[in-house]
Amino acid sequence: MSAAGKTSVGMIGIGYVGLVTGTCLSELGHNVVCMDIDAEKIAALKDGQIPIYEPGLPELIEKNKERLTFTTALEDIFNNCELVFIAVDTPPTFTGDADLSRVFAVMSSLPGLATGHHTLVMKSTVPVGTGNKISSELVRQDIGNIDYVSNPEFLREGSAIGDFLNPDRVVIGSRDQEAGEKVAALYKSLKAPILKTNIPTAEMIKYASNAFLATKISFINEIANVCEEVGADVTTVAEGMGYDQRIGECFLNAGIGFGGSCFPKDVTALKQLAGNSGYHFQLLTAVIEVNELQKRRVVNKLQKHLGTLTDKTIALLGLAFKPNTSDLREASSIVLASRLLGDGALVKAYDPIAIPYAAKAVRGILLCDNILSAVKDSDAVVLVTEWDEFSDLPLAEMKKLMKRPLIIDGRNFLDPQTVRDAGFTYEGIGRN
Ligand code: UDX
Repeated sequence: MSAAGKTSVGMIGIGYVGLVTGTCLSELGHNVVCMDIDAEKIAALKDGQIPIYEPGLPELIEKNKERLTFTTALEDIFNNCELVFIAVDTPPTFTGDADLSRVFAVMSSLPGLATGHHTLVMKSTVPVGTGNKISSELVRQDIGNIDYVSNPEFLREGSAIGDFLNPDRVVIGSRDQEAGEKVAALYKSLKAPILKTNIPTAEMIKYASNAFLATKISFINEIANVCEEVGADVTTVAEGMGYDQRIGECFLNAGIGFGGSCFPKDVTALKQLAGNSGYHFQLLTAVIEVNELQKRRVVNKLQKHLGTLTDKTIALLGLAFKPNTSDLREASSIVLASRLLGDGALVKAYDPIAIPYAAKAVRGILLCDNILSAVKDSDAVVLVTEWDEFSDLPLAEMKKLMKRPLIIDGRNFLDPQTVRDAGFTYEGIGRN
């Protein structure tokens, strides 16, 4: 604890979650030592270059640079920090389980390093039960004097800083009350309920929250599909449902499915976790399947209007899994583009931010610098990501450049009447 009562915190793993969390903890006045094994990334950060796109992050790093240090040496963390966050990747394995090798790599480096008293704080999403296993292993191996606390993150890409600084809740799971209190103290200047519980419960809160939100999305997507059959409008249905406080208005936007680094991975991992312990989580199986089918429904819509897609040109507006991020992980655009290419279509795409990352994510797309070059000579436009820039499309110019005036709005983002008035055929998801 420094004289000002602020704590030195270590952050192991400077990916998306680690960098945002470390920076926001520095904004709360704590000194944060950020460590990653990727020397290039650390050198870039020391040089003021930010390796990810997140609104407000570069400014916040600059503002707090006196309190943020970057290193590749784990010693720097254990020599300086009592509280040590772990924010390494836990990507899915081919079975759908979470790959914990990076977490275990940190654990195996503890002997010899962690000589004083430390509290390990798990930010990475780990399967329920992992924390208790790690705590027992720490006791069994008698590695120094180390406590373990689970402190799951609930950050949304694109609004992660706001989510951290104005959270709906802070969840802390620990065996040892004092260790939990120390972590809770880091957040005391935030106006948020702090829920203290045991480790598996904290771990489950994270999975259950993401699985519930994903369920809401798949649910409204299925309602949208039925709306199409019966002439109802899903956007108004969602509005009408959302007024009911028991349901709530959030996460009821129908579209072409959820993506990103969390929902697909966490829903699959929870289903797998249940399965591994002998329980068949039927509902989640459906949530995943509905999402996979939803990504492909746009192909049917295109075929309905264009017939065979072979040699047709389809322009995708947006590639990122959602606006305000460059992230393409599990993005619906990738499945959609692959299906279109598989059907022999020429696929062009424009995204305000994700273009530099797109070539790696999916081969064979013609990447464009702006909306008009993407839509030029196309038989149809599919709006995949609801970027602000697309809210006011240059419809008149687009119509002149396109072969056919067809817009499929995969996010129900455009005003159907405006698009139709501009001479286009418009089709959304679950609206007529
Ligand atoms: C999510 C959780 O919200 C966050 O709490 C957790 O820590 C990480 O996972 P994120 O993946 O950044 O955050 O994105 P989010 O805004 O939740 O959206 C996830 C996906 O759902 C996106 O593809 C989005 O387009 C889709 N979505 C969201 C819908 O299709 N409809 C909606 O109503 C809301």
